[in-house]
Amino acid sequence: MADQAAKLRQKLIGVHSHYHAKTIAIVSGKGGVGKSNIALNFSLSLASKGKKVLLFDLDVGMGNIDILLGKSSNYSIINLFENNLSIYDIIEIGPNSLSYVAGGSGQDHIFYLDEERLHHFLGQLELLMREYDYIIFDMGAGVTRETIHYILAVDECILVTTPEPTSMTDAYSMIKHVLLQQPIKFHLIINRVKNKKQGVDIMNRMNSAVKRFLHHDVIPLGTIPDDSAVTDAVLAQQPFLIHNTKSKASVAIEHVANQYLGEPSTKSDDSGFLNKLRRLITER
Ligand SMILES: Nc1ncnc2c1ncn2[C@@H]1O[C@H](COP(=O)(O)OP(=O)(O)OP(=O)(O)O)[C@@H](O)[C@H]1O
Ligand SMILES: [Mg+2]
Repeated sequence: MADQAAKLRQKLIGVHSHYHAKTIAIVSGKGGVGKSNIALNFSLSLASKGKKVLLFDLDVGMGNIDILLGKSSNYSIINLFENNLSIYDIIEIGPNSLSYVAGGSGQDHIFYLDEERLHHFLGQLELLMREYDYIIFDMGAGVTRETIHYILAVDECILVTTPEPTSMTDAYSMIKHVLLQQPIKFHLIINRVKNKKQGVDIMNRMNSAVKRFLHHDVIPLGTIPDDSAVTDAVLAQQPFLIHNTKSKASVAIEHVANQYLGEPSTKSDDSGFLNKLRRLITER
């Protein structure tokens, strides 16, 4: 039944329509730096500006987008394979009409797919690529043998770090690890800054280290203050952008989203993501 729905949908969309979703991975070196909160609130901000956004929780075994939203999801990505459902059965709708796919435990299934399941998964992603403006993956911390495929396949990464030296060092190692394999477009968000000056300072330090030692540019996307409104929102199980629209963190994430949308688009190869992902997974 679900399979039929997907087929019908594919027919309606037509075989000639182009993919146009831009794929973004939200990554970090160290854990707990604010990726999931940023992924969710950045997605909500884009959605509030009329973009069609799908947020995909890919944090292996520890997904928590639904917890941040105060929802208990009926399905997660696992059901796509185990119950042979279509992707449309597992997409949930959040505030601002944001679509999301919840994480769940044991999610590493999606990183170990046999030929048949991989084909099914990529086919479903292909449908999504035609439908959304942005597909945003909330990744776990660091790079693993499994998540690297997604990080190398997406159009761009948004790297999150805090001003803590440990977080910055890990962020740098993460960029280095990825850039040694492939040049990739990296945006940078500095989260939990004390003040604007500290944010700018950290941004400049990261940027110049990457430029000097890795000969690559990172694109500054903005800084987000350390704000108790974020913890309040997490406790209330509401996205901070909705819990307190006027909080400093909310104003900052809006600014980040505006900055992001204001950049000239560099998307050139509109089937790049799926082809790269297929190649990276099957080469493994
Ligand atoms: N700007 C901020 N101001 C204050 N607290 C923050 C801010 N950003 C994040 N936090 C705190 O950090 C916690 C962790 O955030 P989050 O879960 O988004 O991090 P993460 O990088 O996704 O973690 P993980 O690596 O485990 O996936 C939040 O629950 C919140 O308490
Ligand atoms: Mg997270």
